[in-house]
Amino acid sequence: MSEKKIITVVGATGAQGGGLVRAILADPERRFVARALTRKPDSDKARALARLGAEVVAGDSDDPASLERAFAGAHGVFCVTNFWEHMSPEREGTQARAMAQATRKAGVRHVIWSTLEDTRKWIRLDDNRLPTLQGKYKVPHFDAKGAADHVFAEEAAPTTYLLASFYWENFIHFGMGPRQGAGDDLVLALPLGGARLPGIAAEDIGKCAYGVFRRGTDTIGQRIGVAGEVLSGPEMAAKMGRTLGRKIGFADVPFDAYRGLGFPGAEDLGNMFQFQAILGDEFLRSRDPGLSRDLNPQLLSFDAWLTANAGRMTIA
Ligand SMILES: NC(=O)c1ccc[n+]([C@@H]2O[C@H](COP(=O)([O-])OP(=O)(O)OC[C@H]3O[C@@H](n4cnc5c(N)ncnc54)[C@H](OP(=O)(O)O)[C@@H]3O)[C@@H](O)[C@H]2O)c1
Repeated sequence: MSEKKIITVVGATGAQGGGLVRAILADPERRFVARALTRKPDSDKARALARLGAEVVAGDSDDPASLERAFAGAHGVFCVTNFWEHMSPEREGTQARAMAQATRKAGVRHVIWSTLEDTRKWIRLDDNRLPTLQGKYKVPHFDAKGAADHVFAEEAAPTTYLLASFYWENFIHFGMGPRQGAGDDLVLALPLGGARLPGIAAEDIGKCAYGVFRRGTDTIGQRIGVAGEVLSGPEMAAKMGRTLGRKIGFADVPFDAYRGLGFPGAEDLGNMFQFQAILGDEFLRSRDPGLSRDLNPQLLSFDAWLTANAGRMTIA
């Protein structure tokens, strides 16, 4: 009897990796075994994954030996870093290198690296449209991931590069939801510069990653960008309004004003939105809802996501 292939999932207790673990376990054909890596195997989230049928293992991206143990015997590995926990691009790069090296040592056949663009390939450091941050970055949480792409190549890790989109959950957890405007009306305020925004239900990123693993190894070396839908600010506001039964307008916040809001990461996010607006159609082409639906036929539209999540959105 052939043994089932193991997929080790970094970030298994988080949004992207959690979606992947649940997708692996929800497959009625149970093609793969889900091995969920976490620093805290006793946490509620880790226990919930174990109850669903995942093999939960201890591991830490800051501890290379623990990665090698967790990747041993795995066919596939999903790699993600969490910039927002420490906001250090250098640490993110070190973690990515440790993961890439551990996949090589373990002889992993297919790696998915959850990456983003190194924006400095488009906007050089001396281009003052975006202020330079932390001395050598334009969008630190993008740049460090994109800069780590070559590390996976250097380690000869058989890698599919997965580009995530803006999670619609940011409207719930990241303080980006609608807020009280003048009178009774609500306002969705984001710095989009008139651009449309590729967005996705966070759970769908993992489901798309599962679609990549299911396809086999054809996508190795490719960049696959996922999105649920691409919408303008006024379109998102109107859809939110219809779901919440409130009038919601859209305010396109100037990039400088957003960068100046003073919360941790405001400059990084302001630069991110401006980068996306500068790239325009090139950015939109890099995240394809059609391809995402091929990988994950259950892909949610924004309306479907709103219907499921309207009750979780708080008005600031
Ligand atoms: N929000 C967005 O719109 C968006 C869009 C695209 C990309 N992203 C990127 O998504 C990344 C975060 O992914 P997420 O949203 O899936 O994460 P998340 O929901 O914030 O959860 C973080 C996950 O990372 C794990 N983790 C953190 N540090 C670790 C370490 N040292 N070793 C092992 N595991 C570690 C945590 O595991 P334990 O705590 O259980 O160990 C947890 O599973 C960020 O880097 C962000 O830039 C976000």
